[in-house]
Amino acid sequence: MKRIRMVAGNWKMNMTYEMGRDLVMQVRDGLAPSEVKVVFCPPYIHLKPTSISLHDVLNLHVGAQNCHESEKGAFTGEISASMLKSVGCEYVILGHSERREIYKESHKLIGEKVKAVLANGMKPIFCFGEKLDSREAKKQNDVVKKQLKESLFDVIEKEDIANVVLAYEPVWAIGTGKTASPKQAQEMHEFIRSLVAKKYGKEAANLTTILYGGSVKPANAKELFGQPDVDGGLIGGASLKANDFVEITKAFF
Ligand code: 13P
Repeated sequence: MKRIRMVAGNWKMNMTYEMGRDLVMQVRDGLAPSEVKVVFCPPYIHLKPTSISLHDVLNLHVGAQNCHESEKGAFTGEISASMLKSVGCEYVILGHSERREIYKESHKLIGEKVKAVLANGMKPIFCFGEKLDSREAKKQNDVVKKQLKESLFDVIEKEDIANVVLAYEPVWAIGTGKTASPKQAQEMHEFIRSLVAKKYGKEAANLTTILYGGSVKPANAKELFGQPDVDGGLIGGASLKANDFVEITKAFF
């Protein structure tokens, strides 16, 4: 088995219905067939139309940006994992720094969401990463280790790690234009893979897809994705521009 390489676009809270529909079409039509998996993670209203547009297109998939940890009930405004599954979602972004920061999501809550997504046969794209002060204090490895332990390693068994995509997103690089250098990304990804190996074994670690996120653009994607432990990217701003997103998916070649 080979490690899956992936480019996922996190639209965050952007794009009206029409704009989103056009963007999906433009990307779909611009992509060259390849082994790289491309995942669209638009806001909820776009999920069903996106999954219809991508139906049966090899290697193109749909993901959500969040979900509730419960199956159903009186949670006004929330969406459950089974609802996401029912509109064709295969992935769900969890633990994004914006959810941790703005919505105060705890390690425990994120772990519960991970379980809900896996129980519904979808794959979490589990995000984590240190803030600038931790990086400056050289504490980035400790932060990442804790995030992985409390929301993932303490929560899931070995058979589930194959269904989890990891996304290292240093908070200081998100939306700032400041990218981690290829060396910084590689060092951290290698460390992350070693943690997965320690917990679930070397074979599982070798197969785990670890994405980098934080100001990835066509100009820096090639060098980042060229690192041995960087298996692709989770793209924010550049995923909103069809040409840029398509270019980034080609950065492996
Ligand atoms: P940017 O690519 O806009 O820095 O965002 C990264 C991100 O948060 C993806 O989840």
